[in-house]
Formats: sequence, C-alpha cells, structure tokens
Amino acid sequence: MKRIGVLTSGGDAPGMNPAIRAVVRTALCLGMEVFGIRGGYRGLAENNLFQMNSRSVSGIIDMGGTILKTIRFPEFKEKKTREKAYKNLRGNRIEGLAVIGGDGSAQAASLLSSEFNFPVVLIPASIDNDLYGTDSTIGFDTAVNTAVDAIDRIRDTATSHERTFIVEVMGREHGNLALEVGLACGAEIILIPEMTIDWDKIVEELENQKIQGKSSSLIVLAEGAGKAREVAERLQEKLPKREIRVSVLGYIQRGGKPTSATRNLATKFGVEAVKMLNEGHHGSMVGLKGMEIVRVPLSEVISQSKSLSLENLDIVRLMDI
Ligand code: ADP
Ligand code: F6P
Repeated sequence: MKRIGVLTSGGDAPGMNPAIRAVVRTALCLGMEVFGIRGGYRGLAENNLFQMNSRSVSGIIDMGGTILKTIRFPEFKEKKTREKAYKNLRGNRIEGLAVIGGDGSAQAASLLSSEFNFPVVLIPASIDNDLYGTDSTIGFDTAVNTAVDAIDRIRDTATSHERTFIVEVMGREHGNLALEVGLACGAEIILIPEMTIDWDKIVEELENQKIQGKSSSLIVLAEGAGKAREVAERLQEKLPKREIRVSVLGYIQRGGKPTSATRNLATKFGVEAVKMLNEGHHGSMVGLKGMEIVRVPLSEVISQSKSLSLENLDIVRLMDI
C-alpha cells in the first residue's frame, strides 16, 4: 500500500491528535504517502485533503481536539454521498483509509469497506467508550479525569453548604462514563440509562446517608438517564427540606490535554491501524483487550452492543456507609 488517507469524524475526543500523529509517522516509516482529510466524511465527499509529512504532526501529542477538524455529516447516510467519497479516494489514488471516530463513524467506515471493497480501519475515539470490541476508546480516560476534577471541586461547595448535588455527565445513551466517574469521585449514587430510576430507593438512600451523619450527597447522572434539573425538581418535591443544586458538566468533558493513558492508547491504536492497512487488512477496528491491542471485524462492532459492567454500582453502595 503506497498511499493512505486519515480523517477524524463525529464527536471530537482528546487523543485524536496523538492518533493522527501515530498514523502519519507510521505510514511514512513504512514508505507510504499520507493525506489528511479535513472535516471528517464531508471532507472526503468534498475532496478536501492535503498531503502530510512528519512535520505536519509536530507538537500535537499533547493537544486536545483534532487538527483535521471533525463534523457530524448525516448526508453520508446517503449512498450517493458515499459514492462521491469513494470517487475522490480513487481520484487521489488513496488505497486505504484510517478513520478516527466513534460508533457512528464505525457505521460509515463499515459501509465504505463493504460497498466498495475499500480498505478502511477504524480507530475508536469517543469519550463515551461505547464501542463493542474494545475495553476503552481514545478520549475516555481524559474525559473521566476531567469530570472527576470538576466534581471534586463541586464536592467542596457541597460539603461547605451541606447540600445535595446532581451532576450530569455526558455519554449519550450509555452509562460507561458516569460509572467510571461516579466511582472515582466517591458519588453516593450513580444514575445510568441502563437502569430504571427507582425514586423511592434514591430517597431512602439519601435519608440513610443523613442518618449516618453525611451532611452532603453527590449524585452522578448520565445524560442518557435524564436531565439534572428534572431529577433535582423530582427529588426536591420528595425532600422539601433538603438544599439541592445542579451542575451540568457539558463540553469541558470533550476538551483538554489528553492524559498519558489516552496519548499512549491513541499512539498504539494509530500504529496498529496503519500496519493493518499495510497488510491489506480492512473492514476492521483496532481495539484494546486487557493489555493487548486486538483487531475486531467492523461487522461485529456495528452489530453488537458493548456490555456494561455494573460492578461500580455495587462498589458505590458498599462505600456508601
Ligand atoms: P461518532 O462517530 O462520534 O459516533 P456520529 O454519530 O456523528 O459521531 O457519526 C460520525 C459520522 O459518521 C456522521 O456524522 C456521519 O457522517 C457518519 N455516519 C454515522 N452513522 C452513519 C450511518 N448509519 N451510515 C452512514 N454514515 C454514518
Ligand atoms: O459522543 C460524544 C458526545 O460527547 C456525547 O457524550 C454527547 O451526548 C454528544 O457527543 C454531544 O454531541 P454534539 O457534540 O453534537 O453536541
């Protein structure tokens, strides 16, 4: 394989830049030319690309965001748009594509691979960590640390005012981020979309915390399980004497310098993805299983759901004494 393309797609995630850096430098080391595609799949459809060299990725290993920009581009769900993209790949003599993105990007990558028999490898990047086939995705560790740092600060004011806080974190319709964040910040309760909210149980737990002498409580709410404000209003009705406040962390979870864990995962994913393309391997995703970098068919990634470990919920209950 002599020429590959690389793009970042969907929700941005810290670590996308270290992944781009690894793709470019591994490809160059293997004697390939590398073209960066600006703006995700729209860049592909609009032929918006440029040749990259080692200097193109200097000084980006510690940068949040993506130098290639990214976009949500629903038009790519239309076959005619994908055909334009494929035509541009061929027109630029690009023989393989590394896609850095989340579950939606995986759907698109799988179609490019299957409809045109075109070599595509997905590098999983999303703060949601919601892709089947990999223990973690690029950006997840950084988003967890960003959220935990923010919630540690909220804990200060909650303790000082003896208040109950409901903190909403991202994760789309998955609870992975909330579970990891909740355990790390010592949340008394974690609410995730995968579990139906038992309001009576929450009230009972909050009251028990008070009996145990806890002067403040922290509830970590995954955005897929509800809106923090609505949860607060519902609890306030049941606990009128309690001071309840809300904080929605929002987009700070998508930014910031990638942690070392994110940088190293991104680098290893990028190296492996280019090796896979070079070996003619396509229609796959690079993933992490324990400490091992693995290769997972995209057909499995897009058709299966990532299983959720509820162990953190049990541990949080244990800690809540
Ligand atoms: P993420 O990759 O972070 O999940 P999106 O869900 O926005 O973000 O997906 C990224 C891009 O992938 C979309 O903007 C669109 O261009 C493309 N895409 C997503 N789902 C599909 C699909 N089912 N078919 C074709 N393209 C898709
Ligand atoms: O998929 C990553 C994510 O940050 C989700 O956690 C969140 O719900 C969504 O993207 C926000 O989408 P947008 O960036 O398009 O507002």
